[in-house]
Amino acid sequence: VKPVKVAPSLLAADFTRLGEEVQEVERAGADLLHFDVMDGVFVPNLSFGPVVCQAVRRVSALPLDVHLMVTKPEVLIEPFAKAGAHRLSVHVEAVTHLHRVLAQIREAGMVPGVALNPLTPLASLDEVWPFVGFILLMTVNPGFGGQSLIPETVGKLGRLARIREQVAPHVELVVDGGVTVDNAPALRQAGADVLVAGTAVFAEADRQRAISLLKGGS
Ligand code: DX5
Ligand code: ZN
Repeated sequence: VKPVKVAPSLLAADFTRLGEEVQEVERAGADLLHFDVMDGVFVPNLSFGPVVCQAVRRVSALPLDVHLMVTKPEVLIEPFAKAGAHRLSVHVEAVTHLHRVLAQIREAGMVPGVALNPLTPLASLDEVWPFVGFILLMTVNPGFGGQSLIPETVGKLGRLARIREQVAPHVELVVDGGVTVDNAPALRQAGADVLVAGTAVFAEADRQRAISLLKGGS
């Protein structure tokens, strides 16, 4: 099993000390920072936008992985590029003109990704592979941190990894939602390249240990 990257989700950070939280997980071995953007329409919750991304950018050198849970991602591509985002994912369920949106993300200088809700069929990715750098597989219903991983999504990840191996081995598989130290081995085994983890990192006092355990260390 190849080494996995860990992307702490800032949704679970202490917002009163966001700068310190970001620097702490960077020192603790985080590979990316996951940034959950919600519009209150695509998901029943609101979070934060480009202004916060720009602030985080100033205190960390880690690549920012922006996950757009919004119905109109096209209006946010340029603002997030300017705010210093490195990767940007949009939901296949939200976008009508996916080819155009993915091209706009690339033109804006970011790595485009497509996110899939837990029960969205893998077949919706059939035409997507040539246009993305990563696929983000939701293992909970998007909208909130701290939920339990839906067990059936582990099998889905395994099937996705087998398809990926055939059609686009360079495309990264990111798993998002309910990731814990307990289910991380199964997710790594199934083919995850990146584990997004909010609660499993930020609710732990020892972030270094949490990240190391997620990666399969001690
Ligand atoms: C859910 C978000 C996730 C979430 C993960 O809508 O996309 O990134 O913050 O948080 P945990 O790891 O606590 O499930
Ligand atoms: Zn997310």
